[in-house]
Amino acid sequence: MRRDTVCNNLNYSIKMSDARSKKDDDLTKKSSIVKDETLLDLQSRYKMDEQIWTASKRGFPFNIPLWFVIALALGTPIAASFLCFESGNAYLWKAYLFTLCISVVAYFVTDKAIEQFKESLEKNGLFGKDLNKAGVRESKPPVPEGLGIVIAIVFLMVTILGQVLLDFTQAKLVEYNAGLLATCMAVLLGFADDVVDLKWRHKLIVPTIATFPLLVAYNGVTSVVVPRFLQPFLGSIVNLGILYHIYMGMLAVFCTNSINIYAGINGIEAGQSFVIGCFIFLHNVIEIYLGTSPQIVSQHIFSLTIIIPFIMVTLALIKHNKFPSKVFVGDTFCYFAGMTFAMVGILGHFTKTMLLFFLPQIFNFVLSMPQIFGIIHCPRHRLPKFNDKTYRLECVHNHFTNINAFLRIFGPTNEQQSCNFLLMVQIISCSGALFLRYVVGGWMY
Ligand code: UD1
Ligand code: MG
Repeated sequence: MRRDTVCNNLNYSIKMSDARSKKDDDLTKKSSIVKDETLLDLQSRYKMDEQIWTASKRGFPFNIPLWFVIALALGTPIAASFLCFESGNAYLWKAYLFTLCISVVAYFVTDKAIEQFKESLEKNGLFGKDLNKAGVRESKPPVPEGLGIVIAIVFLMVTILGQVLLDFTQAKLVEYNAGLLATCMAVLLGFADDVVDLKWRHKLIVPTIATFPLLVAYNGVTSVVVPRFLQPFLGSIVNLGILYHIYMGMLAVFCTNSINIYAGINGIEAGQSFVIGCFIFLHNVIEIYLGTSPQIVSQHIFSLTIIIPFIMVTLALIKHNKFPSKVFVGDTFCYFAGMTFAMVGILGHFTKTMLLFFLPQIFNFVLSMPQIFGIIHCPRHRLPKFNDKTYRLECVHNHFTNINAFLRIFGPTNEQQSCNFLLMVQIISCSGALFLRYVVGGWMY
């Protein structure tokens, strides 16, 4: 009896330890597969060397994983919404949950659509060569370009469905349609830019005209609250009238172009737009929670119904555009994202806060001004230099951009880590923007 029990116990523990070691093996196998996916892709498409790639990676704070950036940016507003939204507000919950569900569906639809359309775009000549990878340009595999068109179409379908199924007032619908028209124009311009490279004057004129429907439909105030220290000279409120409309028009031109020129490393265009979108989401949640007036709450609920689908379709794009990019987003995406931000900012009446979320883009724009306005020669690409001995990006001194400024200050960094670091900077700067808006703004107004 006793021998039997001992034997049974022995067999049991051998089985257990076998199972455990099999599990450990599985885990290591799984983690090495996950770890090597990027490397395998780099090896198969660009013949990159494993040792150089491994050596190109830097330690903290450059080793931030992309999943962390995404989870932090999107997790915060979602957690805040479930903590802060009043449980009795049926209209809010209906609009919010409907938008969340349809946006999750939109994510999967976009993911599938990108898979399907990327080949046809490439076959029809819409592709680019990844400039920051090893190998000579001619022998590099083509990367489908302009996938922004796919996500913009899914986004428009979702928002149109929202118009049908959510109860917006007639006045709001007029504004909403104008906003969608402006977005469509931006997508059209972006796609034209991807197919035939447009001149700078087109990039300035078309977004300006594209905002006209939005500006004529805008029925909000055109006055601004004056900061306390200027009130003795200007009074507490100043009506800017037509100047306010000009400001809104310029905002659209700025938003569309500023994302397009903060570009050139895998994942940065879609990543920055995703982070800004998440912070607009968070700002909406805070404003709904504060509930200053029913009108403000309804403006921010409206903004939620646009920005959440935008965030989710962009997330699907990131999946394919993240380092090493399997698709490029194209100017279509940059203009689409910029116009969507301008639209929610204008129709949600928070353009100043929205501009605060654009601090890195403003910085990049100011740095770029001498080249954009032709004072200094502006080459076709203002990318950093890819060093094929180290697989790191290096600063090019006469390309005045954020990315080059980062490499100049922090030293050569590989493309993946540069992008993730800059996205983290975007998160920190957007958090600073919220501090300025709610703390410093409170002292000034
Ligand atoms: C803007 C920038 C330009 C930058 C380019 C990169 C200005 C005034 N213009 O031009 O300096 O080089 O974006 O997008 O600042 N590409 C990559 N890796 C990426 C993304 C793009 O190699 O991660 C390359 C590909 O060859 C792709 C091309 O850039 O085909 C797309 O460039 P495009 O968006 O047409 O450039 P612009 O928007 O005109
Ligand atoms: Mg571009």
